[in-house]
Amino acid sequence: MITPYIRPQRLRVSAGVRAMVRETQLSPTDLVYPIFVVPGKGVKNEISALPGQYHLSSELAVVAAREAYELGIPAVIVFGLPEYKDGRGSSAWDAASPVQQAIGRIKDELPELVVISDVCLCQYTDHGHCGIFKDGRLDNDASLGILGKVALSHAVAGADIVAPSDMMDGRVREIRQTLDDAGYSRISVMSYAAKYASAFYGPFREAADSAPQFGDRRSYQMDPANAMEALREVALDIEEGADFVIVKPAMAYMDIIRNVRNSFNVPVAAYNVSGEYAMVKAAAAQGWIDEQKIVIETLTGIKRAGAKIIITYHALAAARWL
Ligand code: PBG
Repeated sequence: MITPYIRPQRLRVSAGVRAMVRETQLSPTDLVYPIFVVPGKGVKNEISALPGQYHLSSELAVVAAREAYELGIPAVIVFGLPEYKDGRGSSAWDAASPVQQAIGRIKDELPELVVISDVCLCQYTDHGHCGIFKDGRLDNDASLGILGKVALSHAVAGADIVAPSDMMDGRVREIRQTLDDAGYSRISVMSYAAKYASAFYGPFREAADSAPQFGDRRSYQMDPANAMEALREVALDIEEGADFVIVKPAMAYMDIIRNVRNSFNVPVAAYNVSGEYAMVKAAAAQGWIDEQKIVIETLTGIKRAGAKIIITYHALAAARWL
């Protein structure tokens, strides 16, 4: 019988030693909390596909934002459900729309909380796609000016960071230019740079009422089979002026997070998306998993993979547990 003389277990022998050698420390400051804003007043409706997440009217969005702020979470990302939809998504840049209203109210009441706004058209177009159509085809270039207008309306409303999630080519440059021309050069762009055409967005499309009415998003979002292409997308967005980049989804894309982290020198965010959240909530409700342990392990894994920023519906619960 041999006796091992090198024993990795010596570094796990007590809670104190484990704390000394722990390489990744998850903190509430790593988290971003998503908020869904709807028209009306006094609205707080649970989203059935996202248990524990709500459709909130703008004054109640402020309450949710305050909860995040008081837990030490530095930022929220706001998504809007508009009053009306049309072919061009014009409610997306309407200053009276719920998301612009909510951004203004949150910044008025919580000036130190960072407000990120999701810039896209799919919640606002009647066809549910992320750009506009011409002659039966998604028209990338015609969508750019509109996305610039949407981003500017969020900046005017008070957003600190705009986050384009549409995956149109060239939109970061268009948005950067539009913001700069209007005197908003201090507003950052956090681009959804490597965004995959993923089935994990299923519950979000109910939450944001943004499911495509025909076809799918595979002609503009990335093929889940591709890794090299993610580096090209990220490089382009940085070249066009992105201050932060997002990899989305997170859990099935840990390799992408690590590759992006190793290859570039801008902060990397990961989006722990709706389907990832819903699976955990469903299994926990059945008593099949320990929700708290699963959530902390998952978020720690995403951070260990290289994301300093994690956008997650678990943010409030995780911050309480930490
Ligand atoms: C809008 C957008 C989506 C998500 C964030 N912004 C949906 C999509 O692209 O279909 C997904 C977020 C989630 O699933 O939690 N384009």
